[in-house]
Amino acid sequence: MDAEDTLLAIRHQIEQCQACPLAAGRLNVVPGEGPANSQIMFIGEGPGYNEDQQGKPFVGQAGKFLDELLGYAGLKRSEVFITNVVKCRPPENRDPQPEELAACRQYLDAQIAAINPRIIVTLGRFSMARFIEDGKISRIHGYPHKVESRIVVTMYHPAAALHQPALKDALIQDFSRLRDIMNQPTPSLLEQNYTESTESPTKENPPEQLSLF
Ligand code: URA
Repeated sequence: MDAEDTLLAIRHQIEQCQACPLAAGRLNVVPGEGPANSQIMFIGEGPGYNEDQQGKPFVGQAGKFLDELLGYAGLKRSEVFITNVVKCRPPENRDPQPEELAACRQYLDAQIAAINPRIIVTLGRFSMARFIEDGKISRIHGYPHKVESRIVVTMYHPAAALHQPALKDALIQDFSRLRDIMNQPTPSLLEQNYTESTESPTKENPPEQLSLF
């Protein structure tokens, strides 16, 4: 099976999934979308109202801002794969619960294995926690990390910037830097491997970690 067929098979599994309580409240599953051979994959938190209505990731306000951010990285939405850590909408857009994240993990893992992206960009703390358990986003946002021999770049969630203007600037700066990260060869990126102990890269005293994203 090639990557495209594998993604389709994963989509069909998600459509049938009843593994956690989110299944009962969904209108549509939101498995994610984008080319199966994407070099870069963006992982958000979970579908909101608009995503649940349309069955597509990041189609609401945060999605519009994500499109704009992709432009700063020189990317178009059509050339990247976008998904979430949970594939069904949490009620009232609440945080995904540990058992929901655990139930959905197999699908994200299978999507990553099928696409085999060179770079994964996490959007928000739930996505970051999938790769860097004790990461503090205010310290590590925008920089490459080596995780399971892949490059993971941790970003604030675009929705966070809709409420906190300071984060908008940080996201724009980080997505602009993503363009440089993508232009570097993998071995050089793996050598950089920023960790939480690295001094805050943007010395502009970034805001403390958000509670919501
Ligand atoms: N927020 C997310 O984390 N994912 C979406 O798909 C939409 C909004």
